[in-house]
Amino acid sequence: MKTLDDLLSEGVSGRRVLVRADLNVPLDGDRITDDGRVRASVPTIKALVDAGARVLVAAHLGRPKGEPAPEFSLAPVAVRLGELLGQTVEIGTEAAGDGTVVLLENIRFDARETSKDDAERAALADELAAKADAFVSDGFGVVHRKQASVYDVAKKLPHYAGGLVLAEVEVLRKLTDDLQRPYVVVLGGAKVSDKLGVIANLLTKVDRLLVGGGMAYTFLKAQGHEVGGSLLQEDQLDQVRGFLAEAEKRGVELVLPVDVLAAVDFAPDAEFEVVATDAIPADRQGLDIGPKTRELFASKLADAQTVFWNGPMGVFEFEAFSGGTRAVAEALVKSDAFTVVGGGDSAAAVRALGLPEDGFSHISTGGGASLEYLEGKELPGVSVLEA
Ligand code: 3PG
Repeated sequence: MKTLDDLLSEGVSGRRVLVRADLNVPLDGDRITDDGRVRASVPTIKALVDAGARVLVAAHLGRPKGEPAPEFSLAPVAVRLGELLGQTVEIGTEAAGDGTVVLLENIRFDARETSKDDAERAALADELAAKADAFVSDGFGVVHRKQASVYDVAKKLPHYAGGLVLAEVEVLRKLTDDLQRPYVVVLGGAKVSDKLGVIANLLTKVDRLLVGGGMAYTFLKAQGHEVGGSLLQEDQLDQVRGFLAEAEKRGVELVLPVDVLAAVDFAPDAEFEVVATDAIPADRQGLDIGPKTRELFASKLADAQTVFWNGPMGVFEFEAFSGGTRAVAEALVKSDAFTVVGGGDSAAAVRALGLPEDGFSHISTGGGASLEYLEGKELPGVSVLEA
């Protein structure tokens, strides 16, 4: 696989380089609430700018319906990228001057980007390829998508892996090929149905699996507990019972919450009490793991040599229910293990809670992408670079 360094040593001054970045950041109106992905995209773009390339960046924001929609405009991202690079970044269609950067408007405004029809995607890829002499794939968070600006365009241009994609893949390889044990995985987030594939695969790899967040209630129910009004995916109960049996068979320690913060409703100021998981009142919902669980999880992380964490332990966006997520993050910061935070909400939580980013070995920019890798799936946006 050729890399950004190869491209730089070939010389890029005056050449048009298309960079696929993942700038899919959370927005509140036009305010970026977590700019981690924009910051992570800077080193590759900066290296190209410094070498005199004409840089055209392609990226998506959210899931628009294949047509322009103002709420999904990348305009706020262009402003932030410009601030971080220390130069103007316009939204446009081509970078005309050496060392300039132009950001294409949300590539998903074009329905062909995400089309299932190979010919449609190829047609958009042809249009993108006509704007550039080389392609740098640096949007790690989107490499699990077989989309025109991620996958197809690499077939049309000399292609190179950007620094971020290389760094992320190297970290994930350590979690699969070069593993130091005990290997402990912490999973959270709302829905167990989003993580079925990864749980099935992890049960063959990990020493311990700690489950918190909304998805834990389906595990608790599968064990026979009543979970009141907590998040529950009834249709996943059989699947989860299968996971519990599989963990037991394989000698994997599957650790579930022993207490939760049970709230009267889903609100930042909701009244709540700490209850044991075998005594969740029918009219309450669990919004965070409780103090005993925080201690339990920290103790299960203490001797780990490798940790992967994906998904918050509770509704961390509400201060009162952020303590469980904070406790897991703090246990990782204290740990001497190789610690990897999967992207998405857990990465955003680390930053929102003000934890030091350098307290972790790696904070991934890819939520879905890192989970799919750990599930054992091929990442089309990476394999296409190997051809
Ligand atoms: C992400 O946020 O995980 C990536 O940007 C991919 O976005 P998508 O799930 O909408 O394809």
